[in-house]
Amino acid sequence: MPNTRPRIYMQEVATRDGFQNESQFIETEDKVRVIDALSLCGFAKIEVTSFTSPKAIPALRDAERVMHEITRQPGVEYTVLVPNVRGAERALSCGIDEANLVMSMSETHNRSNLRMTREQSFAQLEQVVSAISGSSVAINISLSTSFGCPMEGDVSEDEVLRWIERFANLGVTRATLCDTTGMAYPSQVRSLSARAKALFPEMVFTLHFHNTRSMAQANALAAISAGIDRFDASLGGIGGCPYAPGASGNACTEDMVHMLELEGFDTNIDLERLLKVSAMLPGLIGHDVPSQLLKAGGRNTLHPAPAYVAEIGLKPSTVINGLRRCDAQIHPCLQSDRRIRHP
Ligand code: COA
Ligand code: ZN
Repeated sequence: MPNTRPRIYMQEVATRDGFQNESQFIETEDKVRVIDALSLCGFAKIEVTSFTSPKAIPALRDAERVMHEITRQPGVEYTVLVPNVRGAERALSCGIDEANLVMSMSETHNRSNLRMTREQSFAQLEQVVSAISGSSVAINISLSTSFGCPMEGDVSEDEVLRWIERFANLGVTRATLCDTTGMAYPSQVRSLSARAKALFPEMVFTLHFHNTRSMAQANALAAISAGIDRFDASLGGIGGCPYAPGASGNACTEDMVHMLELEGFDTNIDLERLLKVSAMLPGLIGHDVPSQLLKAGGRNTLHPAPAYVAEIGLKPSTVINGLRRCDAQIHPCLQSDRRIRHP
């Protein structure tokens, strides 16, 4: 039977957005091992690393080595974050498929993250675009804090749309609306996504959520209802912006895939394989990860029933954990949580 489920494209960002935020340096071989394992899980795109200043993001100071040592799989796009011209030069020397340019929609966040005004960022990125245009390397613009800034507050839709237009005018055809610090909420996501898609029908949009306030999954569904079909997400739910106070983990890839598949979407992700990669993370980063699926398993993961369950109904009464409980046949209330306890 042909697959008629709507396709959702999943883009993994853990080794960039996740690892950049870890205080413990993750060895290059380990990064390569994780990326190679992720490459076999069915992602449309993997954000491998970033070519930022090693002083600003020391965790990713091995970007060139990582790019050279990974084994690329056909059908997967390998992208890297590029904040400025120097970053673009470094990235291009590594044979990337896509350069993911970044700037913030909030002036204050741009200054704190990139140490430039937004206009200075745009001028730099304009140079990057003209250096790359015409080559086989694709360009994506990630617009940080599109749904709010932790220092300035709300960012208006018109402001975000204005910047998309400026990049569209440079010939950029891919854009990511980033909820850098988890401020987005579903109706806001639906509204901005719908307007952006209607105004820029040629632009391929991705949405990038952080689960800081537990709204990432709801936001993803809201985005889909506005016609979005691409999402960034991070293995284990690791990540966060080092330049945004209080920012915590990205939308967790396995949690999102689990939900989307249940909702009838085709993510192309091998979830069982993905969970094995996610299980590698705590050992590598030295702490637990936010992933719910890693803790609980999928909703169809069944657990053995306690031994006393088999005995219920066989005898007139049963002693359970030292408490005498009424038999289910005598007291149907035992079937609910409000069990009657006898002295
Ligand atoms: N790669 C490597 N080195 C870089 C670089 C790059 N992309 N950009 C700048 N540098 C180096 C310069 O060579 C210079 O080195 P020096 O001190 O040895 O001379 C130093 O960094 C400072 O350069 P400058 O142009 O003054 O940059 P800056 O200090 O204003 O920093 C950024 C600008 C964008 C490079 C820096 O703020 C940055 O990388 N921020 C991180 C952004 C990020 O990834 N955030 C999280 C994801 S959104
Ligand atoms: Zn992010």
